[in-house]
Amino acid sequence: MQGEIQPILWESGRLSLLDQTRLPREEVVVESSDYREVIASIQEMRVRGAPAIGVTGAYAMVLAAREVAEGGDGGFLSRLREAAEEIKAARPTAINLAWAVERLLGVAEGESEPSMACETLLEEAKKIQRRDVEANRQIGRHGASLLRGRQGVLTHCNTGALATAGYGTALGVIRAAWEQGERFDVFHTETRPFLQGARLTAWELVKLGIPATMVVDSAAGLILRQGAVGCVVVGADRIAANGDTANKIGTYGLAVLARENGAPFYVAAPTSTVDLGVASGDEIPIEERDAAEVSELGGVRTAAEGIGIRNPAFDVTPNEYVDAIITEVGVIRPPYVENLRAAVTRGQGEG
Ligand code: MRU
Repeated sequence: MQGEIQPILWESGRLSLLDQTRLPREEVVVESSDYREVIASIQEMRVRGAPAIGVTGAYAMVLAAREVAEGGDGGFLSRLREAAEEIKAARPTAINLAWAVERLLGVAEGESEPSMACETLLEEAKKIQRRDVEANRQIGRHGASLLRGRQGVLTHCNTGALATAGYGTALGVIRAAWEQGERFDVFHTETRPFLQGARLTAWELVKLGIPATMVVDSAAGLILRQGAVGCVVVGADRIAANGDTANKIGTYGLAVLARENGAPFYVAAPTSTVDLGVASGDEIPIEERDAAEVSELGGVRTAAEGIGIRNPAFDVTPNEYVDAIITEVGVIRPPYVENLRAAVTRGQGEG
């Protein structure tokens, strides 16, 4: 993929992450050979986005397995299980992290020799990474048809190459439609408070040469009402069995505004983001992050001292607002309980 953004790279036993906290000011790569450093990178959001932290978590497992195997003092699987728990706890909402870690643990449990397990774990991590890019391109192809004939599309947060192993999910849909020759106005939110839209989506769209317009999150209602936006497409951190969707804080409000203004609301995500183990969005844990992300801008305090602050990083959009879920196995529509289950069976069978 010449010229493509490479957010996650495994080379010579080290994991290289493009530090997303430094974008768009500078392109700095952080290298880690210790799984604990990788956990810190996930927590501090040097790497972020559900599929990207899934892939990163898989490589963290490889690093943990190597460390435990090199220690050579027995208890390989039990110590790897402990590391798996630490990695999964790095961020709680995106299911892709737990999904990838559990998948690698399953692979390790099937090996009798630690050294052999290290080899097969690396192969599995590479496979998850490869498969994510393929899934995103399929999502793009399926979703592009939904954008045909629209005057404008609005997206939220960052769901591009940076948030995945490559290409992107919701941004991948926009990109695929654009690559097919469709032309429409692209709007994206700034995405308070961490500014994934302003810093990352804007950076990717400029790099891709797709003209786009950024608005503050609270302008979404106005542009939807003015008719500038024909549909909304967002990513997901976890989709419950009934289609309730956890995604970046502010997504729920966008979905309600889209419905109010007659614009379809689409979620784009690989089937690895669907968690059939949770019946509804009420069971999805919502990460609360440091208050400083809200009270400061670029390290400068903007909120009055003494004020109380909450910083929930995600919200849940009830399934009745979701017109369709675009996955690598096709566009899924209600009834979600049956149709998502079938999609996961197909998607995970192919993976
Ligand atoms: O807190 P973040 O930046 O990790 O949140 C990211 C999102 O909410 C994305 O929409 C989601 O992970 C899908 S990324 C393809």
